Amino acid sequence: MLDVQKIRKDFPILNRTVNGKPLIYFDNAATSQTPQQVIDVIVDYYSNFNANIHRGVHSLSQEATDAYEQARIKIQNHFNAKESHEIIFTSGTTHSINLVANGFSSLLKKGDEIIVSALEHHSNIVPWQMLCERTGASLKVIPMNENGELILSDYDALLNENTKLVFVNHISNALGTINPIEYIIEKAHAVGAAVLVDGAQSCPHIKPDVQALDVDFYVCSAHKLCGPTGVGMLYGKEAWLNKLPPYQGGGEMIAEVSFEKTTYAGLPHKFEAGTPNICGGIAFGAAIDYMNNIGFENIAKYEQELLDYGSEQLQQIEGLKIYGTAKEKTSVISFNVGTIHPYDIGTILDKMGIAVRTGHHCAQPIMDFYKIPGTIRASFMFYNTKEEIDAFIVALKKAIMMLS
Ligand code: ALA
Repeated sequence: MLDVQKIRKDFPILNRTVNGKPLIYFDNAATSQTPQQVIDVIVDYYSNFNANIHRGVHSLSQEATDAYEQARIKIQNHFNAKESHEIIFTSGTTHSINLVANGFSSLLKKGDEIIVSALEHHSNIVPWQMLCERTGASLKVIPMNENGELILSDYDALLNENTKLVFVNHISNALGTINPIEYIIEKAHAVGAAVLVDGAQSCPHIKPDVQALDVDFYVCSAHKLCGPTGVGMLYGKEAWLNKLPPYQGGGEMIAEVSFEKTTYAGLPHKFEAGTPNICGGIAFGAAIDYMNNIGFENIAKYEQELLDYGSEQLQQIEGLKIYGTAKEKTSVISFNVGTIHPYDIGTILDKMGIAVRTGHHCAQPIMDFYKIPGTIRASFMFYNTKEEIDAFIVALKKAIMMLS
């Protein structure tokens, strides 16, 4: 079982006050907080073995290279990729998606179709629209229902022999819906389409097995799972990564360069031009260790309790409407209260030390579906408590009184 009071001691930031009140951090879907164990790894790197990797014969470079490559192996093992070179370090989910979208520019043609879902973050919509503009392919959308669930019969109807790619998030950042990616992958493969799953929101809650899923690409960011910002990963099946051209040119991604011709390095270096976020990659590995030590089953069970408790408490507030009531959802609650603007509630909550996100959450099509400008979003992690939810409810009621 998860000992939340012990876990909270790992997070120095949870001891601070905001506007004179103890911080209650419910903006975890935007970014998670960083435990001391990961902070220590960052400090250790810059204090003891900061050097460029894959380049030097000197000891520091070798130590940094070893630590970076060990982190890649930790990530490989965590996601159960077959090969470590199927893990590409990127600056985050957005970079990973753009890398794949760019790669498909030379593989698609007019008449090809790509499918996204109505539940996507802008980062899993805009790169594919740009890809369609470049190639003449067209974009189709799996619609959603009022609960925030994808309508799978409509997905089935969209699939055909022209479908080349399907892109869905594993969990919606705005509503918390867990999408049935196993079904989506199986159906896409049946028509010969490749699938990219955006795991930005699922990586802190679920441990996916990319081989069991048989997914073609899986992407995520370290900062969502207690790691630093500015680093993430792209998992791609080796055959796909070999087919895609490099995204950026530069040092380290080459085999040989002359003014007549350049040949590229093998995987993973082909996609890792320039000096990477070395410390970030190493800290990403440390964050994965930290999360695995707590255990994803324990995390999921505890967060489900927080979700159930928070939803129950919120539903008792008159005029409050929760958006996203899917049967399968994670610890994200998006809501509005009557006609009060989300921003006003968020601002008052901040004065009381409570961090939530307000707005469209980079998912404007979802807001358009519900015909609202945005929501207030409270998103919980395993270090949050029911006591914090109680304090949040009291503060929210005060905010509503002030604004009514
Ligand atoms: N995608 C992040 C969020 O949902 C930033 O808040």
